[in-house]
Amino acid sequence: MDENQPPERKADEGRDQILAHLSAAFEGKFGVPPTRFFRAPGRVNLIGEHTDYNDGFVLPLAINREVLMAVRPRPDRVVRALSLQADAPAEFSLDSVGFDAQVRWSNYLRGVAFLLEEHDHRLEGMDALVTSTVPAGSGLSSSAALEVCACLALTSIVGIELGRVDMALLCQRAENEFVGVPCGIMDQFIVSLAQRGRALCIDCRTLGTEAVSIPPEAAVVIVDSGVRRQLAGSEYRTRREQCEQGVALLAEQMPGITALRDVTSADLERWGHLLPDEIRARCRHVVGENERVGEAVAALAQGDLARAGKLMVASHLSLRDHYQVSCPELDLLVELAMATPGVYGSRLTGAGFGGCTVSLVAREAVPSFVQAVSEGYRQKTERAPDIYVTTAEAGAGEVTPGL
Ligand code: GLA
Repeated sequence: MDENQPPERKADEGRDQILAHLSAAFEGKFGVPPTRFFRAPGRVNLIGEHTDYNDGFVLPLAINREVLMAVRPRPDRVVRALSLQADAPAEFSLDSVGFDAQVRWSNYLRGVAFLLEEHDHRLEGMDALVTSTVPAGSGLSSSAALEVCACLALTSIVGIELGRVDMALLCQRAENEFVGVPCGIMDQFIVSLAQRGRALCIDCRTLGTEAVSIPPEAAVVIVDSGVRRQLAGSEYRTRREQCEQGVALLAEQMPGITALRDVTSADLERWGHLLPDEIRARCRHVVGENERVGEAVAALAQGDLARAGKLMVASHLSLRDHYQVSCPELDLLVELAMATPGVYGSRLTGAGFGGCTVSLVAREAVPSFVQAVSEGYRQKTERAPDIYVTTAEAGAGEVTPGL
């Protein structure tokens, strides 16, 4: 591939080939062909980071990388699942779904099956083969995609029609309660409800949405730092707790608030001195970030890419300085991006501590962006970053090969 021309392909381009391969591999492994196929995309968040679990606002879109699952229902209550990206197979009975400490990827499936059964949905078994073009561990929500894909498959084969919001909530619970990751609702929500060609501004309190178009002259470019998020788990939990402590302290002055969503910058000016320094810094990020999401939505609606880009950079600086979830590689990627002509904005995306940045880049500047960021990053880190230009794709669904 010409490295100056990263592929901006629609998610469904190339999908047929992957489905044909998946189908043949399924037959090779299970001895019979699959009967149905499901997909669920990864996601990138344009702005609104660490706001979802504070009842705030986020602005993600589904990307052109996805999890695909070939499925064949079984007449019993056994789920057998294999992945083209993992060696270890998973097998469990729907009558007693337990956590698997060995085959860890299977816990996303197990968690979803466990919660569906707990909600009195009577499931049936299936054989499933999974493949994914979402790079694992890069902060592009490969796990939410697997959860939502599994949920869709398990419910569809028995004819259960779960609403999309319920699906997202159930998959989030699977991740929180079964897998043990205290994530917010953003990832599962956008994976389930994304709209093609749009980002979605999600109000994480009401779960109301507003579809937002990205002006066509800008490309959404994802750069993977290659740094994997070892710290993410424990630090994520700590940040959540610090936000809760901030709310508890502020509520002494502002009775009735239940989340940082209810606090404005002006409130924080007034009462911030009552908070310990670190807690104040965390609150400052979240409160400012919620305000930035509203401003970014308005800027994009007016086609004001310069303004939207500035807000993205402000978001990154706040994540770096107030929330302290960046790392030198992500800071470097943002710096390199912003030094390139034609780049409107750039920031870390997802939980932080590694993973990816997202940038809004004038389409004609994409080749020079790729060149400058790859070169600059390689020089300083001796590592080549993966760079993807993404389209905004639809949320999860069933797919039919050849259509
Ligand atoms: C992870 C979580 C999300 C969200 C982001 C930070 O991706 O899964 O719920 O909290 O981090 O914005």
